Amino acid sequence: KKPPTRKGSLIDVPESLKEKVDQLHTLFWVTPEKLKSITTHFVSELEKGLSKAGGNIPMIPGWVFEYPTGKEKGDYLAIDLGGTNLRVCLIKLGGDRTFDTIQSKFALPKDIRTTESENLWDFIAVSLRDFLHEEFPEGSVHKLPLGFTFSYPATQTALNHGVLQRWTKGYDIKGVEGHDVVPMLQKALDKYDLPIEVTALINDTTGTLVASAYTDPETQMGLIFGTGCNGAYFEKVNRIPKLEGKLCDDVDLEGLMAINCEYGAFDNEHKVLPRTKYDVIIDEESPRPGQQAFEKMISGYYLGEVMRLVLLDLYADGFIFKNQDISKLNEAYILDTSFPAKIEEDPFENLSDTNELIQTLLGIKTTKPERHLIRKLAEFVGERSSRLSVCGIAALAKKRGLTECHAAADGSVYNKYPNFKERAANALNDIFDWNLPADKHPIKIVAAEDGSGAGAAIIAALAENRLAKGLS
Ligand code: GLC
Repeated sequence: KKPPTRKGSLIDVPESLKEKVDQLHTLFWVTPEKLKSITTHFVSELEKGLSKAGGNIPMIPGWVFEYPTGKEKGDYLAIDLGGTNLRVCLIKLGGDRTFDTIQSKFALPKDIRTTESENLWDFIAVSLRDFLHEEFPEGSVHKLPLGFTFSYPATQTALNHGVLQRWTKGYDIKGVEGHDVVPMLQKALDKYDLPIEVTALINDTTGTLVASAYTDPETQMGLIFGTGCNGAYFEKVNRIPKLEGKLCDDVDLEGLMAINCEYGAFDNEHKVLPRTKYDVIIDEESPRPGQQAFEKMISGYYLGEVMRLVLLDLYADGFIFKNQDISKLNEAYILDTSFPAKIEEDPFENLSDTNELIQTLLGIKTTKPERHLIRKLAEFVGERSSRLSVCGIAALAKKRGLTECHAAADGSVYNKYPNFKERAANALNDIFDWNLPADKHPIKIVAAEDGSGAGAAIIAALAENRLAKGLS
């Protein structure tokens, strides 16, 4: 089936490449019908994940039992172990739906994804020590509560506890999977005598959900479209069968509990997603083959790699880079998401920025028709990512029976990837048969509040309030 003509593209490809461009477009275009069938299957998989037997989507209870009231108040530390930085924050919750944040970023060592476990915890402790020296030069009189945003699937039986199921997003640090990460971090903090207590372990999606609900009560979902892709929402406790027998008596069964879906794992059994040979290669060559099928097709960690693999094929088929040295292009993950993003952003008809980019990163000279083909490819890869991404939102809305709400989104792809927002809005129109501009969507994607800073602090505050009331 031929995809519809695309709107908004600046670039006209030369006649000789039209067929190839059409082929690539067909490969990466997700039809409205497909989006709908993916969403339908997604809903049943979300449900399965909550059942006692479980499913592919982990649906991890987050032990956050309530919406913030907006009155939470106090000083909290928060850290977020991201893809390239460790962010350390001091958050002052105002108690009036406002907050202030002081933050520092510490660049993660290059080899962090594959380092030894101890180096990771040490790096975090030393960064926190430096931050405290700056912010509390006199020292702190009392122990500071810390919310730890750990954006990986961690099974939680309490808020200050989380056993890493498996690394995602290319991380592969030995000795952490299967262990509770809270005592590991606490041990490193104690080693440096830091006056800090890790009181909450939080997924970035849960933090996003809660931070956004603090300032906007219409928020029903927290979503990350970044290095990885995932969502969190509030579920009725009595609709989470797998919690049966695991709750203390004081938990209100009619109440809510935040669920970190970990829906990057959607369709690990390959039933509905339109995988290409490139997705198969990415999966097979990743440290955890068979995991995170959905995430591997759409999230920032992989988009540059999808581009690279297609470029290699285009080269092998004689479409680009004739008689040039492609040794750099042969290096896995040499292109990150900024590569397709910058190409899509190139405003010039002759794609001179793209020319320079490819020359700098890959040492390859390009002709104008080649660049036009590459630009089209970047558009298709980005478009597929944004269209598939919103299936998670649509599925969560259907699962909860929501017809109107705000879906709070964050992450580098959402914030920085060109055209992501417009494409995501178009895909929502396709799934729900709306024909509405994005700002009129009943289920509206809005920019989130700072989940891993404010969100982590609010969750730590909610936990303190429960403790103070004698609740578990
Ligand atoms: C990966 C992680 C998940 C996180 C997401 C976004 O999917 O497994 O925990 O929320 O990336 O950072």
